[in-house]
Amino acid sequence: MLLDHLKRAAAARETEALTRRRRIAHTACAPHQSVGAVDATPTPLLTFCSNDYLGLANHASIAHALADGAHRYGAGSGASHLVSGHSLAHAQLEHELARWMAPYIPQAQALYFCTGYMANLAVLTSLGTADATLFCETLNHASLIDGARLAKADVQRYPHGDTQVLDALLQASQDKLKLIVTDSVFSMDGDLAPLAALLALAERHDAWIIVDDAHGFGVLGGNGHGVLEHLGLRSERLVYIGTLGKAAGVAGAFVAAHETVIEHLVNTARPYIYTTAAPPAVAHALLTSLEIIAGEEGHSRRAHLADLIAQLRQGLAALAAQAGWTLGDSDTAIQPLIVGDNAASLALSAALEADGIRVGAIRPPTVPAGTARLRITLSASHTAADVARLLDAIARAMPRRHKEAA
Ligand SMILES: Cc1ncc(COP(=O)(O)O)c(C=O)c1O
Repeated sequence: MLLDHLKRAAAARETEALTRRRRIAHTACAPHQSVGAVDATPTPLLTFCSNDYLGLANHASIAHALADGAHRYGAGSGASHLVSGHSLAHAQLEHELARWMAPYIPQAQALYFCTGYMANLAVLTSLGTADATLFCETLNHASLIDGARLAKADVQRYPHGDTQVLDALLQASQDKLKLIVTDSVFSMDGDLAPLAALLALAERHDAWIIVDDAHGFGVLGGNGHGVLEHLGLRSERLVYIGTLGKAAGVAGAFVAAHETVIEHLVNTARPYIYTTAAPPAVAHALLTSLEIIAGEEGHSRRAHLADLIAQLRQGLAALAAQAGWTLGDSDTAIQPLIVGDNAASLALSAALEADGIRVGAIRPPTVPAGTARLRITLSASHTAADVARLLDAIARAMPRRHKEAA
């Protein structure tokens, strides 16, 4: 019975070109990666779909620090943080992250989590109590949506980037605790939330902002401190989530907020309390990652990434105009090429792969129906020649009638 039910669901997914399949990478996360079945010779592909924005996932010094951490602390933490799993490496990482966030959040402390997904569930369920309202952006990441579903708070949604609607919702709310919840860089669109305007609204309506900077931490801001540095914002009302498996190249996430908020999370956040602490070696490796992000190398990687983004956008704008696709309005390393139809976006991704290039086709429910897209992401490990190769391949993969019209 269950199996029949699941088979019907799978068939329906297949008809709508919505089946998701995992691919197996045989080599490290890098622009040139080999992909294939376990027992087959893998195919080398030029890849534009990781979130490794600074190219640190395969950085020799960080891999070395991970091995060093394993030698010092062993493979696993052995228990949750509140039992016996909290190590010196975790504490050092939190201390360093708190120091990073201190210019933007008064009396900031930081709390390290195994993943960004868990950090978001933790913040929304611990702060989103029954006497609160969560005001959620419609394009928020799934982990924020799930956190809001689990929270006891009322949930109200406001349209993408629409501060007027949010203003009206805040005005009408009678709840004691008002929490605005938003991505900073939208994960499938690459554009930025209007955080300065959101903060002004928070101050006017005595609300707080929970901001998920998964795609900004490490890449945005002169020192890679993220969106708050980039926009020059500082407020006690900010609860900041940065993830450490994307630009930082390793794994995990942290929440930075006023020390009273962090103390509350340590005592109440179930996704923090009831799970085994991440291996201390991972936290140890992240200390090296932070050094690289804030140092000379981080600066030059961000500058190179900015050049690649400009090169890609210029080329994509011309191709999108010819093909009738929409290029998203993004200045970040996430560049969405919106094709619309699910099958057409899958076909475009397949045509690129036949040309040796891997770019993921993103379809509903990850993005709204009718906006299936190629989510092209850049890394500082790409070269200008890699980007030129991608643009050439997209031009070749364009549907025939568009090529003839061009
Ligand atoms: C905006 C956003 N928040 C949170 C997450 C979850 O972070 P993690 O992969 O560390 O669980 C992701 C992506 O994975 C994301 O894109």
